[in-house]
Amino acid sequence: MDGQNKKAKILAATTPEEIDIAVMEAANLLRNGEVVALPTETVYGLAANALNPQAVEKIFKTKGRPSNNPLIVHISNLDMAKRCVKQWNNAAQRLADNFWPGPLTIVLPKSEIIPGIVTGGGDTVGIRYPAHTVIQLVIERCGFPLAAPSANISNRVSATTAAHVFKQLGDKIALIVDGGACRVGIESTVFDLTSNPPRVLRPGIIHEESINAVLSGLKIQIEKGLNQKTLRSPGLLKKHYSPLAKLICLQWQNENELKEKLAALGCKPSLTSILCFSDPPSKLGKVTMMPKQAVSYARAIYAELHNCDEAGARWIIVQTPPDSPEWRAIHDRLRRAAAE
Ligand code: TXA
Ligand code: MG
Repeated sequence: MDGQNKKAKILAATTPEEIDIAVMEAANLLRNGEVVALPTETVYGLAANALNPQAVEKIFKTKGRPSNNPLIVHISNLDMAKRCVKQWNNAAQRLADNFWPGPLTIVLPKSEIIPGIVTGGGDTVGIRYPAHTVIQLVIERCGFPLAAPSANISNRVSATTAAHVFKQLGDKIALIVDGGACRVGIESTVFDLTSNPPRVLRPGIIHEESINAVLSGLKIQIEKGLNQKTLRSPGLLKKHYSPLAKLICLQWQNENELKEKLAALGCKPSLTSILCFSDPPSKLGKVTMMPKQAVSYARAIYAELHNCDEAGARWIIVQTPPDSPEWRAIHDRLRRAAAE
């Protein structure tokens, strides 16, 4: 954004009239090669014209993102998706039929219309058809696909409200469109159809088992589990999604056990936030009860991490969630938020 001390404008986009105005303003800026923060159903995105390298460069600069970390390209119809890739195939069609619009990114060989800066210099592109009316309308109005990473400073916690975006990027961009709190709450599943076997690069609410069920009959074997050794998606292994406080996942049977564990870790109770879904301690830290269902937990977790940072917590203790497929993406985010 030009000039100093300017702050992003936040435009509400809830009523049809508000949506009309916000979509028009966002599309105008995007057509002029600017970046705009837009709501999606997963997390807020920092969008730019995916076909304009100078515009895309602004995304990397604004976020402080390494240039080798590819961006997801957002589309609003299947024809647009097909124009972005070299070859559309049966597997992609079936995934699109079942999960789009929705929180699934499909990685395919890129077509020549996608500039190298979008894909981190690579030959493949991640495509997603988001399930939020506002970004769909913006893409339709622009007529071009939007490159959009999560709207946060690189490696920090993603934004699930316009206020979260404002806190991290408010002095770096001109416009944030406020489409309400994100319904899914964690980033899309990234599924790579270019590797053999195809595999999940980043777990999300749509898990491996669902993808497998949809692809069954196509004689496609997908790789089971995250294979950390062969994972080749920059930005997917390192420390990521990090709050300012130190995040630690713990299990406990009773308050005494938790107290001992906190003492051993050197956590000061007055500066400790505890996110749990059962056995809340009564005399330790600032306790927040989290939802017991994975889908609701996912919707809430980033907002709670933002709250802990706002409250000035030095430590965030997260009660380790259950171990089943629907919790896999949450474990993944917590593990990386906890990484040193
Ligand atoms: O839900 C989401 O996916 C959100 C919303 C805004 O759509 N976007 C998002 O973007 O989370 P970002 O850039 O924060 O994360 C995208 C991840 C990165 O870790 C990137 O490395 C990976 O997807 N990725 C993107 N394109 C890829 C490609 N061609 N091959 C492998 N990994 C890719
Ligand atoms: Mg991100």
